[in-house]
Amino acid sequence: MFKWSKLFKKPDDSYRQALTEFSRSLTLIVDFDQLLENLEGKLREIADIPRVYIFLKDPETNRFDLANPHDDDQSDTRFNFSADDRLIQWLTVNEMPLVVENYSGVISFLSERERELIIKHQTQIIIPLIVMNHLSGMVFLGPKSTGPFAKGEIELLVTLLGQSALAFENALLYREQKQRLRKMFRSDRLATIGQIAAGAAHEIRNPLTSIRSTIQYLKKKDPDNERREMMDELISEVDRIDEIIKGLLSFSKPIKPQKERLDLTDLICKTLKLTGSTARNNKVKIDFTTSVTPCFLNADPQQLRQVFMNIILNSVQAMPSGGTLSIHIESITGQDRNEWVRIDFTDNGMGIPETQLEKIFDPFFTTKNDGTGLGLSISYGIIRQHNGDIEVQSISGKAPSGTSIIITLPANERISQ
Ligand SMILES: Nc1ncnc2c1ncn2[C@@H]1O[C@H](COP(=O)(O)OP(=O)(O)O)[C@@H](O)[C@H]1O
Ligand SMILES: [Mg+2]
Repeated sequence: MFKWSKLFKKPDDSYRQALTEFSRSLTLIVDFDQLLENLEGKLREIADIPRVYIFLKDPETNRFDLANPHDDDQSDTRFNFSADDRLIQWLTVNEMPLVVENYSGVISFLSERERELIIKHQTQIIIPLIVMNHLSGMVFLGPKSTGPFAKGEIELLVTLLGQSALAFENALLYREQKQRLRKMFRSDRLATIGQIAAGAAHEIRNPLTSIRSTIQYLKKKDPDNERREMMDELISEVDRIDEIIKGLLSFSKPIKPQKERLDLTDLICKTLKLTGSTARNNKVKIDFTTSVTPCFLNADPQQLRQVFMNIILNSVQAMPSGGTLSIHIESITGQDRNEWVRIDFTDNGMGIPETQLEKIFDPFFTTKNDGTGLGLSISYGIIRQHNGDIEVQSISGKAPSGTSIIITLPANERISQ
């Protein structure tokens, strides 16, 4: 096996070759997490350090977030950098590694927070990740057990990281593309199911209507209370079937939103009133906050209410022994510079296993005994009809578990007062 540690002591052709091979292999990895893990491992091996911090720029927020957090960093929520931070400005302008020991002038130019972070993590060198001519990230290295980094080592690291910057951009693009494809398939699948349902719907609805009216007729005639209650149950089951069919039909001919000017905060408050008693009975506390007041939208109130109800009830059901559901509205600027309204529903319930995350928007996917599996697929259809987006993030299995459903509605639907 090639020993990287020997490399610095005696750089020769085999080192260049191994490096070239590794760099090339990096660009072949398209999976983001795998790439991150590979690079982190290799950097630790090469640089002989216990921990590597890789920061990548989030194109939406322009912030440099820690891409490979470990459990011990969790308390350090400040470990990220904004485009205005002096360190980021220096790396953008100079496009070269910052060797902490040799550049005391630069270090004193940094803010106190930045200096604190460098000292706290015993960083010896910060290497920028540059693609074309923009800063796409940076790597903090140190402390190295064998003392400062030698010039040859730095050159080696810079070459390697040059390749990885490109590999990261590719992996991010690949991830976005995968998400786009998934959404496309999702819409296609919904439309196909809708068409099948439309064909079968009236065949089912006709007999269903006569079943319902017959039961109602029998109920009127029957003096026995117990039997009348049983018939009520039958009627509500029939209604349930009808609801399912209605849901399916909405995929084939999505009902066009009847848009009107509405106050989003008000609409959420009204929905919370409807779901209030269910939440209270399940010991679920609901925290609703907004940083957009007032928040007028051009949207269909019935349809949005249905979406919010589905999401809130799912959360309540995911917290069988109580918990908190936080709802928050904020305004965000997208990559395209357009303004979006973002609504976050975050619970601390049981979460969703990673293997199920892709399925929850599929019609009929349910993990509940009495679920229909239609709530989220219908919600997805409605939000897409409003030119918005709905996404899920979830952690299950380990504490703290929980789920966030995030809805974004586009800027042009927002009406200023
Ligand atoms: N907040 C949540 N926490 C945990 N699981 C959730 C949550 N929301 C949705 N799910 C999962 O997604 C599935 C599909 O949800 P949905 O389409 O509303 O159908 P249903 O509620 O009828 O099961 C649920 O059965 C559940 O497994
Ligand atoms: Mg549901």
